[in-house]
Amino acid sequence: MAPLTIRTFLSRGFALSRVNASAKHQLNSLGGKCLYRYSVPVGTRSQSTITSTPIPEITDHFPNIRTHEDLYNLSVDQPEEFWGRLAKSRLQWQKEFTVVSESEVATGSFRWFPDGDLNVAVNCVDRHAALTPEKSALIWEKDEPGQEQHVTYRELLDMVCRLANVLLSEGVRKGDRVALYMPVCPMAVAAMLACARIGAIHSVVFAGFSKEALAARIRDASASVVITTDEGVRGGKVIPLKQTVDAAVKECRAVRRVLVAARTGAQVPMGPLDVSLEEAMASASSECPPATVGAEDFLFMLYTSGSTGKPKGIAHSSAGYLLYASVTHKHVFDYRPGDVFGCVADIGWITGHTYVVYGPLANGATTVLFESTPTYPDPGRYWETVERLRITQFYGAPTAIRLLIKHGDIWVHKYDRSSLRTLGSVGEPINHEAWHWYHTVVGNGNCTVVDTWWQTETGGIMLSPRPSAPDAPIAPAMPMRPMFGIRPILCDEKGRPVQGNDVSGALCIQSLWPGMARTVFGDHKRFMETYFNPYPGYYFSGDGGHRDADGFYHITGRMDDVINVTGHRLGTAEVEDAMTEHPSVAETAVVGFPHDVKGEGVYAFVTLKDNIEEEQAVVLDELKKITRTKIAAYAVPDVILVCPGLPKTRSGKIMRRLLRQIAANRADALGDVTTLADPSVVSLIVEKHRQQNQAK
Ligand code: WT7
Repeated sequence: MAPLTIRTFLSRGFALSRVNASAKHQLNSLGGKCLYRYSVPVGTRSQSTITSTPIPEITDHFPNIRTHEDLYNLSVDQPEEFWGRLAKSRLQWQKEFTVVSESEVATGSFRWFPDGDLNVAVNCVDRHAALTPEKSALIWEKDEPGQEQHVTYRELLDMVCRLANVLLSEGVRKGDRVALYMPVCPMAVAAMLACARIGAIHSVVFAGFSKEALAARIRDASASVVITTDEGVRGGKVIPLKQTVDAAVKECRAVRRVLVAARTGAQVPMGPLDVSLEEAMASASSECPPATVGAEDFLFMLYTSGSTGKPKGIAHSSAGYLLYASVTHKHVFDYRPGDVFGCVADIGWITGHTYVVYGPLANGATTVLFESTPTYPDPGRYWETVERLRITQFYGAPTAIRLLIKHGDIWVHKYDRSSLRTLGSVGEPINHEAWHWYHTVVGNGNCTVVDTWWQTETGGIMLSPRPSAPDAPIAPAMPMRPMFGIRPILCDEKGRPVQGNDVSGALCIQSLWPGMARTVFGDHKRFMETYFNPYPGYYFSGDGGHRDADGFYHITGRMDDVINVTGHRLGTAEVEDAMTEHPSVAETAVVGFPHDVKGEGVYAFVTLKDNIEEEQAVVLDELKKITRTKIAAYAVPDVILVCPGLPKTRSGKIMRRLLRQIAANRADALGDVTTLADPSVVSLIVEKHRQQNQAK
């Protein structure tokens, strides 16, 4: 008989540790404060021999299709046939759909499987808990190395149901928004899925965002409940998450409740809004019937930066998003039952949503929750984790790879990476050096390397070397090929698709796909203006692209005022807005510049008001602080240059192109500046930039 299992949420983290009955006494005398305990009845362990959820091969659905090319053509020529079949076979429906897509660019209405109902939590948890209850759904790779914790599908179901019941008892109803400000941990995943279970919409805010950024996002979504942890731990550093939430919710009147889970067990002040999540879960029922959720009801919203100062709450659907997450997870990464999928992204970004949580769990996979950093406690952390957990797919960002290259190959060679089959890259263009190092040093030349291009708005991977014909060659450092159902095009300035190969243009998508965002929360007009009006008839990504002589795609970078810092999107206007709040600042212009680790760095050109009383050095310090408190640490400028003026056209528009060239040390190629209102300011700025560079 299976031993009596007791689940405890220990003070040093809401560990899902299993101890047998005799250990119960010892546990009580561990000295740690036991926050929460409930017992799982004896004998509930199923003796299931099924160890993995089978996923049909895509060719099983299309028996007459022979080649990848034929399948891709079918997916773009007959999208309803293609996605309809996959949606029926891959997802479990409460009510099956009869219509595959009712989508129209002209009216801005995008609806997939509109008359179907399905619950995302059931698809990600219940159906696997029924089939493979003892399989690990999550492996939590905690910040502290070597302390991983497994959460089985059965345990995850229990957590999700209890948490869903807590949300219901707090009055959260279908369509309500719940904000999450949490580290990467099982409780965060359970919270996302608990929202899905009751049809609430989660809005995860990256736990590196400041109090003000958090408050603005809570307010924009009118979230009524916030879920957080006492503290976070990253790279050995403690982050006071609850304290930040306390300060943020003071500015958010709609918040009725803050649920606080224990990560470190620190004593944090608990006010009238606050409730211990573990305590609430302990007394909640472990059964929670899933809500009936329409395919098009929103599953979540996630904020992303654009070219204005106000981030957009990108809203994603339930069924279409989940289908796209599941299909891309399987086919880009060659996921097979039994694999251990390791995406090291934070759940605060779209990569964490789609490839830590929804894609892998929809496929019944074991997914790794990586809480730490690439260099903690040393630069071998990723590969030590790969060895210990036997990770089969590793998905990370070029900025981390570039950082690790600097530390040397020795940190890679120390560990056994033979479990790896696929290495993925995401978030920014991967440079050739990083790609080759990833392929040769990390992968020993044995792994498929996929550079994956996509966006918060696309829901899942859009361009990637795989899927393709099994032996199709992979060229270094480019995403190459479209995913099933995706027809990329490049447009010229007039909005016309450019034909042929070896051409560049604005990267647009001609097809519609189930994973695409549906709207900007509360602002559909902005959604249309940003994504569909610039190139009528097509989705505009904001990126420039190049189609090479062989017809393969390469990303050339953003076309708008958005920069990509350590794989995180940052609107230059956000940084400018934050800095101009400083009383001594007259004007600012922020641009990106090439940075060998971060990808892009933040360069701020600033003019100060006359007669400022403070020392300039003090102002510069305060400007750095202001960007940190208003946005996040990654938004702090690498360079601030105080200028006598900014280069403007006669109509008063700042010529950012010039500033970008100066920041990139390309002042020799500035070209014609005679159209400026005051051309002389340019040479003054160039000179100041040169002096500041030399002084470094
Ligand atoms: C922007 C989207 C998609 C998850 C992470 C970022 C850039 C992303 C690549 C790539 C070149 C890339 C683009 C895109 N980007 N992946 N493989 N090659 N650029 O999501 O925050 O929505 O940012 O990141 O500029 O538009 P995001």
